[in-house]
Amino acid sequence: MSKFPELAAVALAVALAGPAAAQSFDLGRPATEAEVAAWDIDIRPDGMGLPEGSGDVWTGEELYVDLCASCHGDFGEARGRWPVLAGGDGTLTDDRPVKTIGSYWPYLSTVWDYVHRAMPFGQAQMLTDDEVYAITAYLLYLNYIVEDDFTLSHENFTEVRLPNEENFFLDDRAEAELAAFSDEVCMTDCKDAVEITARAAVVDVTPDDAAARERREAAAAGADAGVTETDAAEEVVEAAAEEPAVDPQLVADGEKAFAKCRACHQVGEGAKNRSGPHLNGVIGRLAGSIEGFRYSRAFQEAHDEGLTWTEETLAEFLAKPRTYIKGTKMSFAGFRQDEDIDAVIAYLSTFE
Ligand code: HEC
Ligand code: HEC
Repeated sequence: MSKFPELAAVALAVALAGPAAAQSFDLGRPATEAEVAAWDIDIRPDGMGLPEGSGDVWTGEELYVDLCASCHGDFGEARGRWPVLAGGDGTLTDDRPVKTIGSYWPYLSTVWDYVHRAMPFGQAQMLTDDEVYAITAYLLYLNYIVEDDFTLSHENFTEVRLPNEENFFLDDRAEAELAAFSDEVCMTDCKDAVEITARAAVVDVTPDDAAARERREAAAAGADAGVTETDAAEEVVEAAAEEPAVDPQLVADGEKAFAKCRACHQVGEGAKNRSGPHLNGVIGRLAGSIEGFRYSRAFQEAHDEGLTWTEETLAEFLAKPRTYIKGTKMSFAGFRQDEDIDAVIAYLSTFE
């Protein structure tokens, strides 16, 4: 009971209140020491709660084969859908990790406690303490943590460490994070001044002619050039109105069609290379020119020959990538509908 000082205090209080309660309700009695001991069977990582005893790998194997292998398999590999008890090393970051005593569990005390408390399934707590030590030793052996001549006992128990222990740590949010979230929150006049850093005008609504570019640059230069931002912005909008802008519906369709590309290509702010290069500013770009992306030899050759992505070349490429650039490693069969190609190109043209 020394393990639970608070609990002991509560039990004592209940015991003291006992006679009074008994007078009014005549219910119950304090638990006996034996009853508390039968309930108080948890084992802690530091070994607290472990009973005296020991067992070796070979004794453990015999017991295991008799009592456990029918569900967990002779080597902990599991039969059918019963849990696996061994293996799974290095799979924790896989999509479907195999979590076992060896690959995942932090503390050996949990193994001892679990087997002692709950196994064999359906006949829980039939094992003696020495048997639990022996089976635990065998489970360590199955996970390549000890050799076959190993004997586990209450004395060497805490010397055995499971491989994944270091990836578990105590919850330190109270020190590490709470302060950061506890500052007073600003609700009014939180900024001294508002600065406009970008305009929400649809990108590329501006025709790409030299005059418009000059106007845009003038707008960016702003005060220096003696042009107010509003004037410049208005001129840009006027200029845009003269030329047909990219059809927003087509762009929206293109965004949908781009679903076929998204697994491999990113666009927009912060776009990175994935299995394909990022596609910001792809129109007008020299093929195979993104630094740090490993293009196929076919693409390197296209690059050296000066292939540039225009609406026309892109359209041909996206209709039949592998025909257009033989040997490309882009595994996309090609769009069947011309509408999809036009739409995706319109969508891509909105990312500079
Ligand atoms: C009748 C089938 C059966 C037998 C026999 C059996 N177990 Fe289990 N075992 C289970 C099931 C079912 C679970 C999962 C229980 C749960 O998740 O609540 C389990 C879970 C476990 C786990 C935890 C596995 C994990 O990664 O979550 C261990 C360790 C274990 N058993 C050890 C043993 C040992 C040692 C024996 C023999 C003394 C044994 N089992 C006998 C069915 C069985
Ligand atoms: C399975 C992954 C994958 C998919 C899906 C995919 N791509 Fe690619 N893409 C690549 C790879 C890889 C490359 C580089 C090809 C090479 O090096 O041979 C590439 C290259 C390109 C290039 C040339 C880029 C450059 O820097 O020269 C364009 C343009 C392109 N893809 C557009 C698209 C579009 C549009 C789609 C959707 C219709 C798409 N891709 C679908 C993987 C993919």
